[in-house]
Amino acid sequence: MAIIQFIDVHKSYQNGTTSVIALQGVNLSFDAGDFVTIMGPSGGGKTTLLNLLAGLDLPDQGQIFLQERKISELSDHDLTLLRRKEIGFVFQFFNLMPTLTIQENVELPLLLAHSSKKQGSHVQTLLEYVGLWDRAKSFPAELSGGEMQRVAIARALVHQPVILLADEPTGNLDSENGLKIIQLMERAATDFKTTVILVTHNPQVATYGNRHFEIRDGKLADIK
Ligand SMILES: Nc1ncnc2c1ncn2[C@@H]1O[C@H](COP(=O)(O)OP(=O)(O)O)[C@@H](O)[C@H]1O
Ligand SMILES: [Mg+2]
Repeated sequence: MAIIQFIDVHKSYQNGTTSVIALQGVNLSFDAGDFVTIMGPSGGGKTTLLNLLAGLDLPDQGQIFLQERKISELSDHDLTLLRRKEIGFVFQFFNLMPTLTIQENVELPLLLAHSSKKQGSHVQTLLEYVGLWDRAKSFPAELSGGEMQRVAIARALVHQPVILLADEPTGNLDSENGLKIIQLMERAATDFKTTVILVTHNPQVATYGNRHFEIRDGKLADIK
């Protein structure tokens, strides 16, 4: 059973009087446990695809299903709950809260979701998993880029999401640290049974995972 499905999804944006096509007729089906890489040039539609997947934006045409629920039929409240409980995000620029410690950053999704998970020990488990428990009391500015991204991965996984979305997660890292981040996400996908969707313009990154796609001019093509 597919965990994520797009059926003939179209999305355009209005830029003044002109309309920009971001996705045109995307069909896809991902299963639980897939590690999906989607490669494509800037402007190809990668971020749009992730935003639609997370219910941050709605398609103009077509249908999107997450665990058999139709995204367009969920209320704003349900979409918020979906993002807080079932989806984890990793971004190019890490998006850590600068005024919170590493530990507090990782704890934040649990607080927002009013999770009953034992917060202290669970946060520690995740920070140990990414090898940064010894930096728990540090602030983001005191960490390297690679370390910040490892914190972001811990934060994205702390509420045990079903799906992890990563938008150019290595875009701000050197290739060695970028590689480490991809390997960490690959390991985490297996260990936490999370479906990972990673979009990137970096062809090197796109060799990871079990499903590979290319997106260009809003069209998705299977490349394996
Ligand atoms: N909010 C928006 N308003 C107007 N145009 C947008 C918006 N978001 C994306 N686009 C346009 O949609 C196309 C796809 O963008 P995007 O999904 O961000 O591509 P990528 O992430 O692959 O660089 C681009 O032409 C972009 O300019
Ligand atoms: Mg993008």
